[in-house]
Amino acid sequence: MIAKASAPAKAILFGEHSVVYDEPAIAGAVNKRAFITIKDSDSDKSIFRAPDIGFEAELLTRQKKYILTKGKPGIIRYILESLHRVHDHSPIDITLSSNVPIGSGLGSSAAVTVATLAALYRYHNIRFNKSSLAHDAHMVEQAVQGVASPLDTLVSTYGGLVYLSRNKKVEHININFNVPFVVGYTTKHGNTGKMVKDVKNLKTRNPKIINPVITAMGNLTNYAKQALLKRDFNKVGELMNINHGFLDVLGVNTVELSRMVYAAREAGAIGSKTTGAGGGGSIIALCPGKVDEVAEAISRDDNILKVNFTRKGVSSRVYK
Ligand code: MEV
Repeated sequence: MIAKASAPAKAILFGEHSVVYDEPAIAGAVNKRAFITIKDSDSDKSIFRAPDIGFEAELLTRQKKYILTKGKPGIIRYILESLHRVHDHSPIDITLSSNVPIGSGLGSSAAVTVATLAALYRYHNIRFNKSSLAHDAHMVEQAVQGVASPLDTLVSTYGGLVYLSRNKKVEHININFNVPFVVGYTTKHGNTGKMVKDVKNLKTRNPKIINPVITAMGNLTNYAKQALLKRDFNKVGELMNINHGFLDVLGVNTVELSRMVYAAREAGAIGSKTTGAGGGGSIIALCPGKVDEVAEAISRDDNILKVNFTRKGVSSRVYK
């Protein structure tokens, strides 16, 4: 039997970091996906392969360990944690292929986790729906990272634009959001767990300064929701720029991130900001009519990805 699943990567438009303190956030699924194929193993071993990133490992599912045969570890902890929750330890073969650059800040871990769990549920004929899948994928992310908001896994499961409210209610922003974005990313990867901890420490040391900033970031996200619903993209851009400033206050921006953000604005982006945890990773620039110019400007020093938001969430199938 072969089970296949794929899930989209996400970009956070508004609310990274403040979402950790229960402020609202908006993120959307992008047209870059992780694809997982699961089949019975040809041997008595379980193998995980990701040929696109030159990775191969033998999985010791009972011990939640692996023996690396090729490449650098990274995403494998999400695979092992997913297997640990669902799989019966029989030998299987898992292949990941992905057009989401790992460590680019586009939530490749959430896309891989959602696709892996969906494929495993299909493989074992376990009933699931999007709500249970998003919940389980969030549990996996939390177990691996120590801290994670449900945002990334929600978006990778449902697709589309998602608004997560202060009381963790999920709303789908149903607009036609076919606006071009450029993502810029550095080869220096951020560590989400460390960045979240650094912000927490900054907040503890300076509560009277940082607490109001976090509240303001939540208010900004609510303004952004209204601007999106009105399709007022100039306002969305303005709010992205303010959000970048707040992320600077929180100390998560780097020289490279700011270089990309300002290069994008100079080349005509109507808004640009760090997206994701920062400390490395990526920026997102809203650039209707200026995609090529913005991409060109960022790619002088860094890497780019042209993305669109998509309504397509997780999809899975089984072949007998
Ligand atoms: C990381 O993609 C977003 C953060 O807000 C952390 C989280 O929400 O888990 C920094």
